[in-house]
Amino acid sequence: MDPVEVRRLAPADLAAFQAGMPAWNATEYTNRIGFQERGLAVQLVAWVGERPTGRAMVVFPGHPEWSPSAYREGCPEIRDLGVAPGWRRRGIATALVVAAERETRSAGFARLGLGVGVEDAAAAARSLYERLGYVFAHGPFVQAALLEADDGAPLPVAGVCTYLVKALTDEGSTSQPS
Ligand SMILES: CC(C)(COP(=O)(O)OP(=O)(O)OC[C@H]1O[C@@H](n2cnc3c(N)ncnc32)[C@H](O)[C@@H]1OP(=O)(O)O)[C@@H](O)C(=O)NCCC(=O)NCCS
Repeated sequence: MDPVEVRRLAPADLAAFQAGMPAWNATEYTNRIGFQERGLAVQLVAWVGERPTGRAMVVFPGHPEWSPSAYREGCPEIRDLGVAPGWRRRGIATALVVAAERETRSAGFARLGLGVGVEDAAAAARSLYERLGYVFAHGPFVQAALLEADDGAPLPVAGVCTYLVKALTDEGSTSQPS
């Protein structure tokens, strides 16, 4: 496999990212770049050559989607982590989380949080986060959002989650597990 490069989404990469890993509507990624430019979020993309293979967003305090759980824990949070089905189990999510931790520390925060589902479907994510040092903070609770398709149709999403947090104490805490 070619090397994985994780970097912030740039306007020049928008079309390739949307084509390879479509969001639920045509404007979502453009909006994310807007928040990124204002320092309220970071949109990370994992590229293998020209192909987008994974994504993760870090949301900072002040972003409209900064969650009540993140507010409670007083930390930025990872949102919308996902790896394209054909690219899983190759360390791409790990690389995205490590990059998210680096961005969080660079922004002056010492902790990073995330919500993860309690259902069987989230078993892989729970294993990933446990391996990377995220620990239970609170829950379970319902995490819900009302997304919108291009035609305005509502796309409700909801799940029962627990909230995990990791203390990013030093640069060593971002190292990948062996
Ligand atoms: C969860 C997800 C992001 C993992 O991505 P990935 O690139 O395959 O993860 P990595 O290769 O970095 O895996 C790192 C570790 O996570 C755990 N893991 C990943 N996939 C797993 C699976 N299918 N079953 C069990 N553990 C798994 C393992 O501990 C793995 O280490 P190992 O491969 O040495 O055993 C991916 O499966 C995905 O996109 N799932 C759908 C969306 C989702 O659940 N997102 C998370 C929302 S909270």
